[in-house]
Amino acid sequence: MKLILASKNRHKLTELDAILRGLGMEVALESEYGLDLDVEETGTTFAENSYLKAKAVFDASGHAAIADDSGLMVDALHGEPGVYSARYGGRQTDAARTAYLLENMKNVPDDQRGAQFVSVITCIFPDGRKITAKGVCRGTILHEMHGTGGFGYDPVFFVPEYGMTFAELSAEQKNAISHRGLALREFSRKVQEGIYDDE
Ligand code: IMP
Repeated sequence: MKLILASKNRHKLTELDAILRGLGMEVALESEYGLDLDVEETGTTFAENSYLKAKAVFDASGHAAIADDSGLMVDALHGEPGVYSARYGGRQTDAARTAYLLENMKNVPDDQRGAQFVSVITCIFPDGRKITAKGVCRGTILHEMHGTGGFGYDPVFFVPEYGMTFAELSAEQKNAISHRGLALREFSRKVQEGIYDDE
């Protein structure tokens, strides 16, 4: 089955493709279908925004559509930046948003720097049925950036299991433990077991 990813983010495409390919599903960016949607993420939860994005692509294309809405929730900042991760502080680049986060956390001591990445995947199938799946990955926020891989806040998100940041892990290592990897495996389990939302 071919799924259209409701996103312009190539990093997300790469991460989703690596896992979904093994399940016999192909993913393509919406641009490959001639779509250039600007979906306003008006929801206050990852689930709402994930649905809004998948629904917009489904409605515009009639094809099966999949969306990931994700973000970083920092304990000491009461869950911020959360659903606003991609536009945190109005900063325009990943590096600027990460620097802004570190600035906001400069007085937070080491034992209170816990955080989690959250991903909610929504897939709407051609018959209109949908599946939602969520993944959460816990870690801590470092005081400075380490590593050059991945994207977003990866260089400051430290995972104790590996003793490294997400940006220092290989793509396979990140997929094995990340919020998106967990959500996708939950999604694939639901697909295989035929567990749809609201049924
Ligand atoms: P979305 O595209 O609206 O879901 O925004 C997700 C934002 O959350 C991204 O722009 C990143 O800032 C952050 N984010 C989500 N997943 C990751 C990840 O795996 N690594 C680093 N940052 C992430």
